[in-house]
Amino acid sequence: MQKELTIIQPDDWHLHLRNGHVLEKVLPYTSTHYKRAIVMPNLQPPVITTAQAQQYREEILAATPAEHAFSPLMVLYMTEQTQPEDVKAGYLSGQVAAVKLYPAGATTNSDAGVKDLEKIYPVLEVMQEIGMPFLVHGEVVDQAIDIFDREAVFIETKLIPIRERFPTLKIVFEHITTKDGVDYVQSCDSHTAATVTTHHLVINRNAMLVGGIQPHYYCLPVAKRESHRLALKEAATSGDPRFFLGTDSAPHLAHLKEAACGCAGIFNVANTMAILAQVFEQEGKLENLEKFASVNGPNFYNLPINTGKMTLTRSDEAIPLPKDVQTDDGTIKVFDPQMPIHWQVSAVSQ
Ligand code: DOR
Ligand code: ZN
Repeated sequence: MQKELTIIQPDDWHLHLRNGHVLEKVLPYTSTHYKRAIVMPNLQPPVITTAQAQQYREEILAATPAEHAFSPLMVLYMTEQTQPEDVKAGYLSGQVAAVKLYPAGATTNSDAGVKDLEKIYPVLEVMQEIGMPFLVHGEVVDQAIDIFDREAVFIETKLIPIRERFPTLKIVFEHITTKDGVDYVQSCDSHTAATVTTHHLVINRNAMLVGGIQPHYYCLPVAKRESHRLALKEAATSGDPRFFLGTDSAPHLAHLKEAACGCAGIFNVANTMAILAQVFEQEGKLENLEKFASVNGPNFYNLPINTGKMTLTRSDEAIPLPKDVQTDDGTIKVFDPQMPIHWQVSAVSQ
């Protein structure tokens, strides 16, 4: 059995860092393992303009431990008022890496998101022209649509029409959770890719709903049935360049998740690389972990591949779960994959 694996240093192509005190607490978990991360803009208020992204970037850099060489990749939050000129200037100057679509009402802090997709067509036109990635939270918000079907319906009613209207726009279908998502991405050419989270590779909806309601397994899009998880696992471990890691690590204080109306999000950056090594090993695909975590993402984003390395080591005994994060306002719980993890990150060199 393989005991050690060295890969190119990974990046995280979908991450929530928040701001203020929580940012300071959670950021070192990312910057200790990852060289770069696509930082989600759903703050309160959202990061809408290039100037706001620049300000947020500075806040992140100020919170980065001096010994970590971490580069945040900033993302604008798409609104119906987003200005194509601002998006273009931000991308061409290197201050902004992508724009994120939140359908209004789909998830945490998405109220300022988009209701009518046609209103953003002028921005998408410019993004297609300059090769700027369009990141999509792919769920419809229609009350008539069952929450477990919202991703599949989004593909048919929103994503396919956008793709037809903008054939060479770079689209990242974020945190896919269904076989429908996998099949759709596989049916597309290299202009479409998808991120896959750590938790959707490991849990299905039973983790959230069996034996009592389990708020620490609640995220959006919600985990689906086992057949969908298996499709995600096969795609992520296959080495296909269209699938790459986006942890969607989304810290929330435990008491806000363990509530009558608990918030969506799972904090998983502390143990993602160890869990991924376990999953890829189980699939007999350890050799593809580097593609998923370190190569496919930068290739899609047209960015250089990292020069640093990460070594993971396997022990015979299971490694205990990392400690939860303590903040002045409460605890952030670390994702428990509910399975023994024998891998751990043993070295990172930049
Ligand atoms: O589970 C989630 N949490 N999904 C999202 O789309 C947003 C995120 C958050 O910001 O907490
Ligand atoms: Zn997210």
